Amino acid sequence: MNAGADREFAGRVGLVTGGSGGIGAQLGERLAASGAAVAVHFMSHRASAERVVATIGARGGRAVAVGADLREAEATVQLVEAVERELGPIDILAANAGLSRVAGYDEIDAAAFDEMVAANLRAPFLLARRVLPQMRERRWGRILFTSSVAALTGGIVGPHYAASKAGLHGLAHHLATRVAADGVTVNVIAPALIADTAMLPGDPGDLAARIPVGRLGTPAEVADMAMAILRNGYMTNQVVGIDGGMHPS
Ligand SMILES: NC(=O)c1ccc[n+]([C@@H]2O[C@H](COP(=O)([O-])OP(=O)(O)OC[C@H]3O[C@@H](n4cnc5c(N)ncnc54)[C@H](OP(=O)(O)O)[C@@H]3O)[C@@H](O)[C@H]2O)c1
Repeated sequence: MNAGADREFAGRVGLVTGGSGGIGAQLGERLAASGAAVAVHFMSHRASAERVVATIGARGGRAVAVGADLREAEATVQLVEAVERELGPIDILAANAGLSRVAGYDEIDAAAFDEMVAANLRAPFLLARRVLPQMRERRWGRILFTSSVAALTGGIVGPHYAASKAGLHGLAHHLATRVAADGVTVNVIAPALIADTAMLPGDPGDLAARIPVGRLGTPAEVADMAMAILRNGYMTNQVVGIDGGMHPS
């Protein structure tokens, strides 16, 4: 394992949904470097998830790739069961997977809206609902939802995306106070305009011009902030922006 890396999460099991994507891959690698056994979830990009698993393995860590289409409610349960079979009960849930389709409000019908909400909001809720009882019983747990600056500003992807991400904030606020005394934290990270992801809603140069810092963020910067949140047992019920200054908290 990485020389000098802390092993704070040794013995813990983490599930990173969207682990095949830009941000999730970085987070999965960092969790493993801190000692956690990591389930790297994917939907369509199995090879990307397996590359993350191989990287973790080559560094002496433990990881598995697990597929699920999180638009399906039942898939959330099957995903957790698969992780439990392979690695054990989940201590750290990073519900990071997200669906993003650029569309105007006048183009989105009920089915498109429901699909977005199912993937981006209902799935994180169902995953949290499934893992929370065990976390509370063990009196330690971390839940981190990945939303977006779009939840705060409306954004440029579409109303279905912004609404689905904003819902995660309410979800976290509802859950956090109910499980805090059991050692479980529930937080949200709200990134904006991150390079090297499949999700950028436009030309990188044009997008960079919208950002006070003057450039896109990196998956590594988001993953570093996620790790800081996951490490901290006194930080809960928070929405943490990492957006180059686009939205003041
Ligand atoms: N990139 C940005 O600028 C930005 C800004 C704000 C918020 N975010 C949020 O950051 C999170 C991570 O995204 P990313 O930036 O790393 O983009 P990414 O590289 O496109 O990764 C998205 C991930 O979500 C997974 N996914 C998409 N639809 C899914 C579904 N229906 N069921 C299960 N998994 C699904 C993808 O799996 P497969 O690839 O295997 O299909 C992939 O692993 C997302 O929640 C996104 O909304 C990103």
